[in-house]
Order: sequence, then structure tokens, then C-alpha cells
Amino acid sequence: MKFISGSVEETIELGKKIGEKLGGGEFIALIGDLGGGKTHFTKGVAKGLAIAEEITSPTFVIEQIYESPKKLVLHHFDFYRLGSFDNEIKADIVDLLEDRRNIVLVEWAENISDVLPRELLKIEFEYIDDDSRNVVLTPMGKYYKNLIKGLK
Ligand SMILES: Nc1ncnc2c1ncn2[C@@H]1O[C@H](COP(=O)(O)OP(=O)(O)OP(=O)(O)O)[C@@H](O)[C@H]1O
Ligand SMILES: [Mg+2]
Repeated sequence: MKFISGSVEETIELGKKIGEKLGGGEFIALIGDLGGGKTHFTKGVAKGLAIAEEITSPTFVIEQIYESPKKLVLHHFDFYRLGSFDNEIKADIVDLLEDRRNIVLVEWAENISDVLPRELLKIEFEYIDDDSRNVVLTPMGKYYKNLIKGLK
């Protein structure tokens, strides 16, 4: 499924629509260009989960955790830089999915391709011009196919 986002607001809106559908236990892999809109998309996901806190880029801290009033926990990772602790963190990511309250969202998921679950929602961001991005959603598995049904 392919979208063209013509503005930051549209990217946030797409994230929000997806965030509203999440029930816990999901894995979202964000990949693509630097400045593609991964963090802004995540802001939308947080909105959809009714998280009031400001979402900031976890580039320097690897992980940010946000509690949703829906009794869900958003774990936001950024693997742009791979550091010495990353093997530990990578193992933790897989474990997180054992608790159905957790939602795992990873920027630069291509950098941890060895630990990605088999089923996930892949979202690629491609720069078109200053204001526009191609956003390509690829559901891996039946659950994620259903999840994105009806999005437009
Ligand atoms: N349609 C759009 N959607 C999202 N961001 C856009 C769009 N058009 C322009 N932008 C700009 O592109 C940048 C996207 O930044 P953002 O931090 O979300 O990207 P990112 O993919 O997380 O980058 P990084 O790889 O550094 O983590 C922002 O400066 C934003 O204003
Ligand atoms: Mg980012």
C-alpha cells in the first residue's frame, strides 16, 4: 500500500490512524531516508494511542518508553547508530513482544534485520521533495494485512 504524504501533518495523520488501530503486541519497522519522516510518523502513532507526552527522536538514547492511557506501552527505538550495547538491546526487543501490552516501533529497523520478528508492519519513507514523501506500507503476516485494511 502506497501513500504520498504532502506535508508533515499528513504523515502525522497517517501515524495517528495506525496508532488508533493498535491493540498491543505489534511490531512496526520504519525504514528509509534520513529525514524521511519516521519520527514524525511516530508522533502520529503516539497521538493515536492518546499519549500526551512529546515524542522526541531517540537517536542518542536508543529507546524511549511512553505509557498510553489505553494500558499499552509504546517502545520507540532508533538504530541509526549501532553501539556496543546493542546486542543486549536487540535481545530485549524480541522479549518485549511477549507482553501483549507492549508495542515496539523501530526506526532504522534495517540495521537490526537479524532480530526482526517474522510478522510485522514495514513502513518505508522515501524523500520526494522538501514537503513530500512516498510512504510504502508492507504488512508481513495476516494480522498486519488486516490492520492496514481500510486505511487510505
Ligand atoms: N511529508 C512529510 N512528512 C514528514 N516529514 C516531512 C515531510 N515534508 C517535510 N518533512 C520534514 O522532514 C523532516 C522529517 O524528520 P523526521 O525526524 O521525522 O525524519 P526521520 O525519518 O525520523 O529522520 P532520521 O532518520 O534522522 O531519524 C522534518 O524536518 C520535517 O519537517
Ligand atoms: Mg527519526
